[in-house]
Amino acid sequence: MSSTASGAAKPTVTVTLDGTNRSTTLPLLSGSIGPQTVDIRKLYGDLGIFTFDPGYGATASCESKITYIDGDAGVLLYRGYPIEQLAEKSDFIEVAYLLLEGELPNAAQLEAFRKGITNHTMVHEQLRRFFDGFRRDAHPMAILCGVVGALAAFYHDNLDINDARQREIAAYRLIAKVPTIAAWAYKYSIGQPFMYPRNDLSYAENFLYMLNAVPAEPWKANPILSRAMDRILVLHADHEQNASTSTVRLAGSTGANPFACIAAGIAALWGPAHGGANEAVLKMLTEIGKPENIPAFIREVKDKNSHTKLMGFGHRVYKNFDPRAKIMKDTCHEVLGELGIKDEPLLDMAMEMERIALTDDYFISRKLYPNVDFYSGIILKAMGIPTHMFTVLFAVARTTGWVSQWKELIEDPSQRIGRPRQIYSGAVQRDYTSVDRRG
Ligand code: CMC
Repeated sequence: MSSTASGAAKPTVTVTLDGTNRSTTLPLLSGSIGPQTVDIRKLYGDLGIFTFDPGYGATASCESKITYIDGDAGVLLYRGYPIEQLAEKSDFIEVAYLLLEGELPNAAQLEAFRKGITNHTMVHEQLRRFFDGFRRDAHPMAILCGVVGALAAFYHDNLDINDARQREIAAYRLIAKVPTIAAWAYKYSIGQPFMYPRNDLSYAENFLYMLNAVPAEPWKANPILSRAMDRILVLHADHEQNASTSTVRLAGSTGANPFACIAAGIAALWGPAHGGANEAVLKMLTEIGKPENIPAFIREVKDKNSHTKLMGFGHRVYKNFDPRAKIMKDTCHEVLGELGIKDEPLLDMAMEMERIALTDDYFISRKLYPNVDFYSGIILKAMGIPTHMFTVLFAVARTTGWVSQWKELIEDPSQRIGRPRQIYSGAVQRDYTSVDRRG
């Protein structure tokens, strides 16, 4: 097979099956930025062949206007706005509006959205009972996944995905209620009373309140920590077609209700190669124990037979640096400074590992740089958030991206059920033999 691209007004790619006279001309599509993309939809019809791209490294699964990443340049844009500007100047609620609606809100729209979200922070009282069904030592991601999936059983009034108003209510409910469920999963695991949401607090403050407050004592927000939590939420809010978002879209393409789709996203996020990495970074640093052990650990990572990865390093798309990691590193120093933590051995070790890895040919040649998860765990630990809650926090933030992507999918007239093909390499057709005739 060979292919050629032509530079005519409407660019195309011609694919020719080598050794035959069969060929087809495929359109080359362009987005507003980013590489051109071959539209292969008629390839099978014309030539009877599929394309093969396990891991989807070179496949665009959809058209989207939400998030753009240039992995070579280390650029991340939400609706065109650089992540650095949003992290510095905006806040999570405004970013959530931007992701969902496509534009930054004016003052009245922002206020209405803020109110709309805070009006939905409580969950149906009956949902409390779900928590009792879990073991106290259940991982909070297991609880989050189960309870978010169960929301569909409580909010029948907004399950019609073809009704724009119902889609909007479902999106608001998810953005508002996931922090409540996440905080309760934590409270359940430590045996403390659930704290009901407080709508006088900001989104990040309310989440910290539900995690850390107890009914017996007054609780006061720390503005630096609230700001850090808000920034973590902004940085994790969306990341185009990553594994969990693609899972949400795939589930959504079947017409499944939004709560089920987000529960599917939560399940996909849990893996250590994805959202579970922040938890894995801290586990890795703790296991390494002291800086003297770093060189031996790096040797193990480089050993092909070990299967050990430097967690918090590497990214499918970023091959220069992860812009979120840089902001996270600065936030990490800010938070430790505010908390008066002068000597944090894990941070010292993380910085030493970063220094070693960034000068080592193994990491340089493979373009492996710290990703968003390398420093986030250290910040969260300093804020008193236990390790097993790290991925839950990621899920709280990413819910906004997931619902925005789900909404875009449902509103896309060209969307069809997601149904990849395969290269079948199993047995060819053969006849059944009865058990007494098998060797
Ligand atoms: N440590 C050591 N080697 C690595 C690492 C790492 N963290 N990441 C990739 N490599 C090696 C990999 O072994 C391969 O080597 P070789 O060419 O010799 O076979 C080469 O680099 C290319 O890696 P890949 O596996 O083809 O890369 P990928 O795009 O399939 O995987 C990744 C991306 C993020 C899953 C992977 O880098 C990884 O597992 N990193 C550690 C987990 C992590 O930090 N994940 C969080 C990602 S950011 C937040 C999120 O999106 O959820």
